This record gives sequence, C-alpha cells and structure tokens, in this order.
Amino acid sequence: MTTPPAPTPAPATAGAAAPTTGAAARLRNGELRAMVARVLADNHGTPLTPRAIAAKLGGRSSGAVGNALKALADQGHAFTASAAPLTYGATATTDSVAAATITPTPPRPPGTTWAARPNRTSAAPAPATAPAATPPAPPPAPVTGPVTRPNGTPYHPRLLSGMPDVVALRKLRDAGIPALMYGPPGTGKTSAVEAAFPDLLTVQGDGDTTVADLVGEYAQTVDGNGTVRYTFIHGPLVRAMREGRTLFIDDATLIPPTVLAVVYPAMDGRRQIIIKANGGEIIDAAPGFYVVAGHNPGVHGAVLTDALSSRFAAQIHVSTDYDLATQLKIDKRAVKIARNLATRQANGETGWAPQLRELLAFQKIADVLGAEAAAGNLVGTAPEEDRATVAAVVRQVFGKDLAPLALGTRI
Ligand SMILES: Nc1ncnc2c1ncn2[C@@H]1O[C@H](COP(=O)(O)OP(=O)(O)O)[C@@H](O)[C@H]1O
Ligand SMILES: [Mg+2]
Repeated sequence: MTTPPAPTPAPATAGAAAPTTGAAARLRNGELRAMVARVLADNHGTPLTPRAIAAKLGGRSSGAVGNALKALADQGHAFTASAAPLTYGATATTDSVAAATITPTPPRPPGTTWAARPNRTSAAPAPATAPAATPPAPPPAPVTGPVTRPNGTPYHPRLLSGMPDVVALRKLRDAGIPALMYGPPGTGKTSAVEAAFPDLLTVQGDGDTTVADLVGEYAQTVDGNGTVRYTFIHGPLVRAMREGRTLFIDDATLIPPTVLAVVYPAMDGRRQIIIKANGGEIIDAAPGFYVVAGHNPGVHGAVLTDALSSRFAAQIHVSTDYDLATQLKIDKRAVKIARNLATRQANGETGWAPQLRELLAFQKIADVLGAEAAAGNLVGTAPEEDRATVAAVVRQVFGKDLAPLALGTRI
C-alpha cells in the first residue's frame, strides 16, 4: 500500500481537544505545518484565518498556526487571500505538504479506519518503500501577497479554482493551455494577466489590427554608411515565439478573424508560423511561448468566433470583486452603489454597474473634490439609458440628489 500516512486526525470538535493539549501538543518539526496544510487543503476555496485553523486543530495556539501559515505562504504552499482580516488559502501544492507529513502513522485503534481521502494525489508517485518524509514538489513561484505588475502597481491575487489566479494562470501556461479572460471592461482582466506573466508582450487588438501588427513588416532603416535599406522588423508575435514569452492579445475579439488566424499555427501542435511577407521565413516557438487573450463580450464589434473559442481551451470569466474594492480603501458608499447596481444588472433592471476601474476613479475624484462630487460624476459617466437608475441608487445611498459635474455660473 502506498497510502500516505494519515496526518494526526483533527478532532471533530474543539471540545475533543484534550488529547492534543499539554505534552501531546508538542509536535515534531514541521508537523504543525503539515496539519495546517491539511486544514487548508480540506477547505480549498475557503480562505481561513489563523484563529479558525487553530480552532479546527483542537484549539492550538493561533500564534503558532500563524507562523506555520507564514512559512507555508513563503514557500508557495499557501497564499494570503486577504490582509484584513488576515486569511490564507490553499495553493496547488498545499495538498502535497499535507500528505508529506513526517508523523509516523499512529497505531490505528482496532476496528477503525481513518477517514479515507479519495483520489489524494501525492506530490510524486511514491515508490513502495518511500519514506514518509518525501519532500513536496518544488514550489512554484511563491505568491504570498500582492504581486507587482510590470508598471509597478500592486495586484491583489484573486481565487481561481481554489488557488491564486496568478498561480493558476502560470499552471495553464506550463501545461500549454491558452487562456481567454473575458468580462466587462474594468474588472481586472489585463491586470491579472500582467501580474501572472511579467514577461508578456501585449498587442492591443482593435478593428484595424493587421497581420503586420502581429508578425512585423518591412521598415526603412539607415545603416552605418548612410545607405537606406529595407529591413523586416519582426512584430510581437514573432518576438514572443522566439524568446519563449507570453503574448497577450487584449481585445482579441475586435481583431478581424482573418488577421487573428496568423496566430493559430503558433498555438497549434506545430508551434510554427511562416511569414509570407518576409519570403516565407519560418519561425519556431521557443519553450515558454504562450498566448492569452482578452475579450469584452459587451463591447460593440467583439465577435468570439468558433475558431478563436476552440483555440482558447481555458475561458476565465472576470467580474469585479467588490470586497477587493473595499480593501483598496474605496469609499464604502461607492461600493454599496456599485453592488446595488450589479444586482439590478443581474436582474435585467439596468445595463450598467460600476466596475473596479470606475470605483478606483471614484476614489481619486473623491480625494480631490469630495465624495459627493465623485458620486455626481458616477451619475454623469453612466450610459445615458441607465442614468436615471444610477441617480436613484446614488440618492438612496447619499440621501440626496447628486448631479453630474458641470460648470456653473461665472465667479
Ligand atoms: N486584483 C487587483 N488588484 C489591484 N488592482 C486591480 C486588481 N484588478 C484590477 N485592478 C485595477 O482595476 C483597474 C481595472 O483593471 P484592468 O485590468 O485594467 O481591467 P480590464 O482589463 O478588465 O478592463 C486597474 O486600475 C487595475 O489596476
Ligand atoms: Mg483590459
């Protein structure tokens, strides 16, 4: 049997903590960490505070649990899901840490079985004689808090399939599964991709994007002797392929389908393109080359063709995380208005709700002109057909009518 040794079973209730208190509470090095990892893995998708985990472990010290969590997070085996309150969630490797506990299997009380953990995938297929202390798989780049985007701004990772979105996206890249991020403007699609792939090259798609914008074109250059030459300057697709980088095609669905089609051979099994415009030059994709696309379904002219959809096997919906907006210190009233409108939007009562981008703008305006001016501006920036609804919600929350910003009479 290669069943990994069961971790010290967590008592079902805090009341059953007696056996693990006192001397028995002294754990071997790493044992608490494995137990904490077990709790995180068992609660995949539900971030927990150190105190909650301590309670689940039969009332252990939240301080010690906090230290274990920090150590796990430092190694990428957990991630900080929120800062206040401080909560942690499981990553893809949490489970392997939990499975790799170095506690020898305690003798089983006769006639009992430890709760079976079906389909537990251990870090590596353990040989029959594997010692229990098999180290976990090498950790991915640890994600323990905000990730700095290439433009220097912090990105707060969000949950994607029970792990930080940046970790999930990197796993998709490692597995060669192209991803499409879709959702309304201002929800965080670009930010997530930038945070996950610092090596990315971006193509901003629109209706005028040409093949040359992707693969490159001839440009006039002057060499050292002053001779004018025409040189083929490779575009972002070729650079990303050669350098094994991520190509982010934002608003990919605005690009004419025949133009976007030049990318497909690079993504398909061949991982190769032939540049007709440069005499049939053959470009092979280096390892690491990856394509991510962005799509705003509501935007005029955005067409998700079958050809595109079938190439982007992983399609990830992105909507505004209003809790994150609150954490980013956006006026609670603005977040309340946005949530209210989002609910109405879901019910079909309105077509628009402020997303994170509008909320960040709200706060910037509030900081310089005051919250009421910012709220009036929210009314003014809403699409015309939804303005009355937005004004009504603003009135509800601020207790008065607030008009869009406008110049008044001469001073
Ligand atoms: N998880 C996040 N943490 C911090 N800021 C974020 C996060 N997601 C989005 N933002 C901010 O919200 C705004 C809109 O995000 P963006 O990625 O441009 O949206 P989209 O690409 O969906 O239009 C940007 O100012 C961005 O910095
Ligand atoms: Mg964007």
